[in-house]
Amino acid sequence: MKQSQDFMAADYPTNDGSGVINCEAPSNIALVKYWGKTAVQIPANPSVSFTLNHSKTVTALYYKYLENASPEVSFDLIFEGKFNEAFKPKIRKFFELVETYVPFVKHYHFEIHTHNTFPHSSGIASSASSMGALAFGLIQLEKKLNPELSESFLNQKASFLARLGSGSACRSIEGPLVVWGKHAQVKESSDLFGVKPALEIHPVFSDYQDTILLIDIGEKSVSSSQGHQLMHGHPFAQNRFAQAHDQLSKLLIALEIGDLDQFIKITESEALTLHAMMMTSQPYFILMKPETLRVIEKVWAFRKETAVPLCFTLDAGANVHLLYPKANKKTVLDFIQSELLIFCKNNAFIDDEVGSGAKLL
Ligand code: PMV
Repeated sequence: MKQSQDFMAADYPTNDGSGVINCEAPSNIALVKYWGKTAVQIPANPSVSFTLNHSKTVTALYYKYLENASPEVSFDLIFEGKFNEAFKPKIRKFFELVETYVPFVKHYHFEIHTHNTFPHSSGIASSASSMGALAFGLIQLEKKLNPELSESFLNQKASFLARLGSGSACRSIEGPLVVWGKHAQVKESSDLFGVKPALEIHPVFSDYQDTILLIDIGEKSVSSSQGHQLMHGHPFAQNRFAQAHDQLSKLLIALEIGDLDQFIKITESEALTLHAMMMTSQPYFILMKPETLRVIEKVWAFRKETAVPLCFTLDAGANVHLLYPKANKKTVLDFIQSELLIFCKNNAFIDDEVGSGAKLL
């Protein structure tokens, strides 16, 4: 079983001059939700997600060797072509958390050029894709310094570093399906990084669609970090954590055999349970909006009428992710156009699908 120490890197000879690493990492959508953690993103329960394909962060990591290592990591952040001071503290914090594992970073000055393919104010959390891309970029630099390291170790380490930046980001390095958090039935599963479960996912899920309805694009009233904290001392926490283990076992079987009914049952239950935990926290809070519920009602009615296996899931926010097989795409898009767009801010939605994870460009 891997420990954090296994990801410590030697202080490699670092004079690799200067260069750039161009890479990208996608967002991901949890089917079994991570909600509740202990220090530095150790999840209270295992989760599993689909990696997305189009909603991603694209990062160019320029690095320049410094003769004298700097006491703290030296970097500039250029977001959407402009120097950005506002996002720097989060990146600084990330470097502080990861520098033990990638000590060579202090021997470089970094210019991090980054942008997202989805609008910043879309309510889509960019932390998973942005931390995923940055972690993946640093690991590519490590690979240059130590070409012996295996691909599988490097992916695990990228996921490990991404987790330190933002928990769910560890599920954005690989795809199409990633489990994060120790689970009895997933060999190699770990609280420290995401893994691809050793199962053949049924073809119906291999190109599954995720159309994200943008219901509320403002700042959330309660952040994910605050929400996770409220699971400490939550009256239903222990039952919830046990339920996540159980739902994950059942979902993996459904994904393997292509059981759409079971997939829908678990995925929707997980979405509503996540929000039920929020509503029963102390202090309690609600992130869904009236339009979120209207969409859910419409989805249920549509499924009943048409038997199309369309279901929803929710993140920590009001937006609704609609999940369905590719074969039903036209019918579902017609349904969205005619009945759901009125619930979306500026009629906006993002058309995404299952993808394969971070890559070099
Ligand atoms: O990674 P965080 O701290 O932003 O938490 C994400 C939590 C959920 O998106 C609500 C669920 C999940 O597993 O992604």
